[in-house]
Amino acid sequence: MSSSRKVTTVYMHHPSWSALPKEDQELLKLAQRAAGNAYARYSKFKVGAALRMDSGEIVPGSNQENAAFPAGICAERTALHAAMTMLPRGTVESVAIVVPQVKGKDPVTPCGICRQALLEQENRQGSPIRLLMGIVRGPVLETYSMDSLLPLSFDRSFLRK
Ligand code: THU
Repeated sequence: MSSSRKVTTVYMHHPSWSALPKEDQELLKLAQRAAGNAYARYSKFKVGAALRMDSGEIVPGSNQENAAFPAGICAERTALHAAMTMLPRGTVESVAIVVPQVKGKDPVTPCGICRQALLEQENRQGSPIRLLMGIVRGPVLETYSMDSLLPLSFDRSFLRK
């Protein structure tokens, strides 16, 4: 018999950066700084990311665009792929994503491709990744695993080993 099923997403909403522990505020600041190195010539939408490894290492990233639009890459994947190139056996603990100026009130959440890439990293490292999504002088959304942003996902369990 057919049945309707419900997916619930849990996330924290923090009214400001100061509601978070110092090391999270620090990670958000590093993501904000990374946004300064974005190459957002076409969208004018600068995004910064900063990834904290369980070893304490920090890896920044920013969006890098291209005249051939699909060739551009988001801040999150820039940081993630840099981290995995430098520390292929590393574990990503937290990712901060910051947009310096945004017209709306809510922080930016990762695009679908970045969600998929972060999910792959969770599976690769065998532990969940925490996301902090913030706006400068604005609120922060926090998730505790990619399952919150990408339910009913496709992953390696569907592929033949
Ligand atoms: N972008 C990111 O870097 N991260 C996000 O989470 C959302 C979108 C970038 C991609 C593109 O360079 C610009 O923002 C506009 O879509």
